[in-house]
Amino acid sequence: MSFDIKKVRDDFPILQQRVYGKPLIYFDNGATTQKPLPVIEIVNTLHRQSNSSIHRGIHYLGEQVTEAYENARKTIQKFIHAAQPHEIIFSAGTTASINGLAFSLGERFVREGDEIIITEMEHHSNIVPWQMLCGRKNARLKVVPFDDNGVLQLEKLETMMNRKTRLIAVMHASNTLATINPVKDIVSLAHRHDIPVLVDGAQSVPHIPVDVQDMDCDFFVFSGHKVYGPTGTGVLYGKEKWLDMIPPFQGGGEMVDSVTFEKTTYNQLPYKFEAGTTNYIGAIGMAKAIEYLLSTGLRSIAVHEQNLLHYAVNKLDELGYITIYGRAPLKTSLVTFSISHIHPYDAGMVLDKMGIAIRTGTHCAQPVMQHYGIEGNIRASFAMYNTLDEIDSMIEGIKKVKLMF
Ligand code: ALA
Repeated sequence: MSFDIKKVRDDFPILQQRVYGKPLIYFDNGATTQKPLPVIEIVNTLHRQSNSSIHRGIHYLGEQVTEAYENARKTIQKFIHAAQPHEIIFSAGTTASINGLAFSLGERFVREGDEIIITEMEHHSNIVPWQMLCGRKNARLKVVPFDDNGVLQLEKLETMMNRKTRLIAVMHASNTLATINPVKDIVSLAHRHDIPVLVDGAQSVPHIPVDVQDMDCDFFVFSGHKVYGPTGTGVLYGKEKWLDMIPPFQGGGEMVDSVTFEKTTYNQLPYKFEAGTTNYIGAIGMAKAIEYLLSTGLRSIAVHEQNLLHYAVNKLDELGYITIYGRAPLKTSLVTFSISHIHPYDAGMVLDKMGIAIRTGTHCAQPVMQHYGIEGNIRASFAMYNTLDEIDSMIEGIKKVKLMF
């Protein structure tokens, strides 16, 4: 499939504007991606024509939107190759998915003295919920370190697993180091010890094809807004056997079968985990974003984004005063760096005035910054609509920053 960058850019209205009189260069895609016209239009059309609470009314609008919502579930199922549609739970995003899972899994399986394993490169959403669970249950959090290139030290993982380990939670791709972790190997190692694995796909799904059955992970999460969909959307995938075993994390309408004041029984999957009126328009919008991604071509996008990554890294290295954090052999299309001694916020402010949106700070991954002994750095994260010319403009901007400070 040929990749038509002009067509892609035309599909994203937000990119057509100027900021401070300069063409907008949006390099903050690791935080959130922009939305293509089909997503904007479906959300708009649903609000104009079909809005009605799903799974409630038997009226025309209710049935239309319920069908669209369940079709959205099937789109996501196919996208990540889940075995069954009811293994897809709609959520408000990666953070909501992990918090929910931490509660439910913890209620059913985690006792005093048990252990959860995460890694040193996780973002806060895959650290804090597990820390909170360990606090509630008096359990222990263990952390697999990474080396200075940003590669996980998997030989250490092997020595950390034991009969008390209840879960391994690991990111598929890092939001600061860009490392693509060997999650399939991690799952296979963990399963030899009967330990389930959660893979956090927030930073992988927009860039790499995902097959949860091939990976054999027990849980997989991602956010809709990082994959060109609406904000407040996301997915918790779980193997049926696990979702059947764990209790719901929220009580309310629709997640129940029968309710009396003495006892409540729960609905079947996936509704057991979708209490209340869900963000159904968002979920349909997220599925539309995935259709857009697939029709543009995941492989062509990956090739384009890898070109951007390698071009940016080479240009940054050529400057001679840039420190890049993360040199793993397999990376997604983002790079974090420091410009000699210059504070990242100063650099970010100058680049912003040139119309270049990059992220500065800790990127919600303070332990990664602690690993390198820095307070923060600069992140340029690329998406399908970015260009080599935009990277050239960023390099020119960095040269100006260096001259100014
Ligand atoms: N959303 C956070 C980021 O920008 C984690 O990477």
